[in-house]
Amino acid sequence: MNIINRKIKAEIEVPGDKSISHRALMISSISRGITRIHNFLFSDDSLSTFSCLRNLGVDISIDNDLVVVKGEGLYSYRKFDGVLYAGNSGTTMRLLSGILSGMKFKSVIDGDSSLRKRPMGRIIKPLTLMGSKIYGNKDNFAPLNIEGGDLRSISYNMEVNSAQVKSSILFGGLYAEGETCVYEKVRTRDHTERMLKYFGSNISVNGKEIIISRSELYGRDILIPGDLSSASFFMALAACIEGSELIIRNVGVNETRTGIIDVLRDMGVTIELLNVHNDYLEEVCDLKIYGSSSLKPIKIDGDIIPRLIDEIPIICVLAAFAEGESVIRNVEELKYKESNRVLSIVEEFRKLNIDICEIEDGIKIKGGRDIKGGAVDSHNDHRIAMALSILSCISGENIEIKNKECINISFPEFDDLLKNILK
Ligand code: S3P
Repeated sequence: MNIINRKIKAEIEVPGDKSISHRALMISSISRGITRIHNFLFSDDSLSTFSCLRNLGVDISIDNDLVVVKGEGLYSYRKFDGVLYAGNSGTTMRLLSGILSGMKFKSVIDGDSSLRKRPMGRIIKPLTLMGSKIYGNKDNFAPLNIEGGDLRSISYNMEVNSAQVKSSILFGGLYAEGETCVYEKVRTRDHTERMLKYFGSNISVNGKEIIISRSELYGRDILIPGDLSSASFFMALAACIEGSELIIRNVGVNETRTGIIDVLRDMGVTIELLNVHNDYLEEVCDLKIYGSSSLKPIKIDGDIIPRLIDEIPIICVLAAFAEGESVIRNVEELKYKESNRVLSIVEEFRKLNIDICEIEDGIKIKGGRDIKGGAVDSHNDHRIAMALSILSCISGENIEIKNKECINISFPEFDDLLKNILK
């Protein structure tokens, strides 16, 4: 197994959390008063939400990296005559559809070729039950035509484990008569619930049951923690190289997101959570990762999956350097991400001599082979591009990644930060 002989010793910060940045913009845009968002993520995805909201007439400005939103309450949007463009961002399209369902005008929202292939039936169904007139191409795909209006509350058993779907229904619930209840099979990231509560909504969370009713929201200040999903690429890099010590400051460690920490520990990596504290609404800490002399293979399935759904590409990289067979199951949802991630990972890793195959509902990887350099493709998927880039760094092999600029979707500073760490 080829691993570079250069220890990582660095202290870094990663940009603000993507999921929380989207929510901060959307929730403040329908609140009354001023919200100041600190450490907002300036990346293509979050800027898609930004531009949709501006087109909807929301007063948003940027003042030295501080985002200031002046909201006028639940009905502060104005009809946009063009097509709202969500770019590559599933979060923008799915969450905003929940809010647009409450607005008394027609909207059309579309996305890029990747987003047009991602399933929207999962939000069309509950929002239609709430009374939204929301139509998609073949009932399942963007562009979505939405005519909002008077919504009614629903009780909804989640069919997929998806924070985006849950959030879309909760946003609809803000506009509906009565109490909207959502029941999750497995808990997914709860940033929406936390932020809605912080902004004053009538929301209660009892385990996997969430109840919301029509509420006025009020602008607040928000400090967005560093994105653990972005941090995970550097965590993996340090973890694989013996003798490394990497500190990542101010990372969000909301327990609905920390599956990657559990996995690294199961693989035998030492990780310390230092200075754990609560910043406004999320748990935050400094992460310290120690490089390991060898990684143990892992089995991942079941309830942990939503807690690490975006980290599977980098977990597959870790598995390629582990000694033995790793198996990841129950990841059907990976097929509906920015690319079909099961396919992208298997196809590209194979080109690099990694022993990997698709199994029923998952991926199997036998770690330990020598990685070979070569040309690979990101499938225009930011997390695949970054995972391949880390694979190249750990192995020291020259891996040329086609369509790498998609990294800007979530992490425009990725390459510069990586160069700095490796200096
Ligand atoms: C997200 C939820 C997850 C995740 C995505 C961001 C969110 O998607 O994969 O990157 O911000 O709510 P699903 O909710 O569709 O699983």
